[in-house]
Amino acid sequence: MTTFELSIDALRARRNSKWNRYGGDVIPAWVAEMDFSVAAPIQAAVQQTVDQMDYGYPLRNGNRADIAVNNAFAARMKERFDWEVDPDNVLALADLVQGTFAPIRVFSEPGDGVVLQVPAYPPFREAIIDNGRRLIEFPMVDDGTRYQLDIPALERLIDPTTRILVLCNPQNPTGRVFERDELLEFGRVAIERDLIIISDEIHSDLVFDGRKHIPIASLSPEIAARTVTITSPTKSFNIPGLRCAVVYFGSGAARPLLQELPAPHGRSAQHHRHRRDGGGVDAGPALARRGAGASRQGARPRRQPPAQGAAGNKFPYSGSDVHGLARLLQAGV
Ligand SMILES: Cc1ncc(COP(=O)(O)O)c(C=O)c1O
Repeated sequence: MTTFELSIDALRARRNSKWNRYGGDVIPAWVAEMDFSVAAPIQAAVQQTVDQMDYGYPLRNGNRADIAVNNAFAARMKERFDWEVDPDNVLALADLVQGTFAPIRVFSEPGDGVVLQVPAYPPFREAIIDNGRRLIEFPMVDDGTRYQLDIPALERLIDPTTRILVLCNPQNPTGRVFERDELLEFGRVAIERDLIIISDEIHSDLVFDGRKHIPIASLSPEIAARTVTITSPTKSFNIPGLRCAVVYFGSGAARPLLQELPAPHGRSAQHHRHRRDGGGVDAGPALARRGAGASRQGARPRRQPPAQGAAGNKFPYSGSDVHGLARLLQAGV
């Protein structure tokens, strides 16, 4: 029987980065993972995988693992937030940082403006700057009781080259859980200025004091059509080493664009999907011929697809199979 709280010796015996980056006299508090044991069903699922040496490509109820992840995400969004999502518009990736890089590359061009709430989780800045986009900082305003979205300031920041608003809700690091009216205002600006919203909702389960998380894409079909929601079980379930994240497109037209992104080693994500299925189609050239504009709903056409390997176009897409969460689903969690 494992206790919820772990001893300092048990924590120091771990081989993770948190407890091994600094010396033995340091109590690490620098990375977003908790020093508790994981929930028993997760532990049992991992244990089953280990016991059975079940390290092949996973299936669940006869479905590919990524389909199992998509269905699990849809069921959970319905249960937690009464939000109906279409499992067909979900894309499972290995981590959320990929899920930030990918829509920035799909929905903007080098030089375009991307608005980011600051202070922010640092990889958001990297996703914007490393891809050659222009970082537009949108400061959170402390009104003495809590941090606010200053919507008039946001409207002043947006210029004709701005393409994307990055929203982090609940916000890391201020901890704000945005309310319905604030999110509606944010969505209104996106609609009026014809912008894509990338909404990181990874902390949506870690909400206290009777507050309620509202997925921005759940507010209206108009907002949903221009929102890419990204989330992961890593924070809620304290499993950052079991890599899995999802990207959800409020518009069915947008999902194929992301799947066709060229991966860093010269093959598109679509290629990898087909390869898993026994196919072998590289959809990168198709995207290049077509451009993405025709498929985008409610957003400006992109001029050029992201060029493979071009300077200012980095994308850490693994292009590989879905990892940890699929394993857990496979084992029945
Ligand atoms: C706001 C936010 N987004 C994304 C991530 C990355 O999550 P993961 O490493 O599970 O992909 C973190 C991790 O701390 C985070 O705080």
